[in-house]
Amino acid sequence: MDLLNDLKKIEKKAEKELKEVADLDKLEEIRIKYLGKKGKIQSVFSQMGKINAEQRPVVGKEANILKGKIENWLGKHKEKLEKKAAEARFKEEKIDVTLPGAEVKSGREHPLTLITEELEEVFIGLGFTIAEGPEVESEYYNFEALNIPEHHPARDLQDTLYIDDNYLLRTHTSPVQVRTMQSQEPPVRIIAPGRVYRSDELDASHSPIFHQAEGLVVDEDISFSDLKGTIELIVEALFGKNREVRFRPSYFPFTEPSAEVDVSCIVCGGEGCPLCSRTGWLEIMGAGMVHPNVLEMSGYDKDKYSGFAFGIGLDRLALLKYGIDDIRVLYENDQRFLHQF
Ligand code: PHE
Repeated sequence: MDLLNDLKKIEKKAEKELKEVADLDKLEEIRIKYLGKKGKIQSVFSQMGKINAEQRPVVGKEANILKGKIENWLGKHKEKLEKKAAEARFKEEKIDVTLPGAEVKSGREHPLTLITEELEEVFIGLGFTIAEGPEVESEYYNFEALNIPEHHPARDLQDTLYIDDNYLLRTHTSPVQVRTMQSQEPPVRIIAPGRVYRSDELDASHSPIFHQAEGLVVDEDISFSDLKGTIELIVEALFGKNREVRFRPSYFPFTEPSAEVDVSCIVCGGEGCPLCSRTGWLEIMGAGMVHPNVLEMSGYDKDKYSGFAFGIGLDRLALLKYGIDDIRVLYENDQRFLHQF
C-alpha cells in the first residue's frame, strides 16, 4: 500500500476535474467527492492504521497539505464561477435606459370643481362663509320649512326622488337656508354649494344629478336692490363686463318677490342657438326675498329681519364659463374632455 502515491494521484485528478468544472453545482459535487466525510482525503486518513508507524506522520502531513490545497482551489474556482454567474445575470437583467418611459397621467380638476371654487372665492371676498347640508334630506327641510305646501307639484313623485315616506334626495340646496338659520343668529351671509337630485330625463341641458350653490343673506334692512347688486357683481366677476344679466319675475314658495336670473348666451351671444333654446338667454339661478313664513319657521323675527336668497345652477355656470354645449359631458368622465381644463 502506497498512500503517498495515492495522494499524488488524488491531487492530479482533483486538479484536472477542477479545471473542467463549469458550474457551482458541479463544484459542490467535487468538494464532497474529495473533502466530504466519505471523500478521498478522508479515506486516506482511515487507511493510516494499516501503514507503519514512521510513515504515518509523513502521510498525515501530506494528506493535510493536499486537503488545504484542494480547499484553496475550491475557493478560487468558486469565486470565479460566482463572478461568471453574476455577470450572466447582469447581462440578462440589463435595463435599456434608452427605451421610452411609460407616461404617468396626472388628473385635472373637474370643471365643476373649478367653477365651484371660483364662485366660493368671489363670495368669500364679499364676506360670505361656506355652509353645507346633507344630500339625503328630510321632507321637512326640503319642502315644509320652505313654505312649500303639501300639494305643491314640486313634491310630486315625478320630480322628487324619495328614499321613504320622510326622506328624499334633496331637490335643491335651499334646505341649507333653514338649517343655517336654525343654527345661528343674524347677520347671516352664507354660500352652500352641493349636489342636488331630480327625476329628470337626461338631455343636453338636464341631468338627474346636478349642482347648485345656495346663497343666503339675512340682516336688518336687506332689500331687493342688495340682491340685484350682489348677483350683478358675481356675474361680472365670473364672466367679465360683457355678459348681460336680466331679472324675470317668477314664483318660488320660499321667496317673495321672486325672480329668475338670465345671462346672455355664451354660445350665440344673444342671437339664439340650441343651447339657449333660441332665446338668447340662459337661466342661471332662481332668487328672491326670503318669505316671512320661512324666516318665522326658522325662528327669526320677521319684523326685524329681512333677507335674500338665491340658488345658482353650477352646471349651467360651468357650461357658460367654458363654452360647453352639453351638460352630459360633465358626468361622463371622458379623460379627453376633462384634460382640456
Ligand atoms: N331652490 C330654487 C330651485 O332649485 C332656487 C332658489 C333658491 C330660488 C333660493 C329662490 C331662492 O329652483
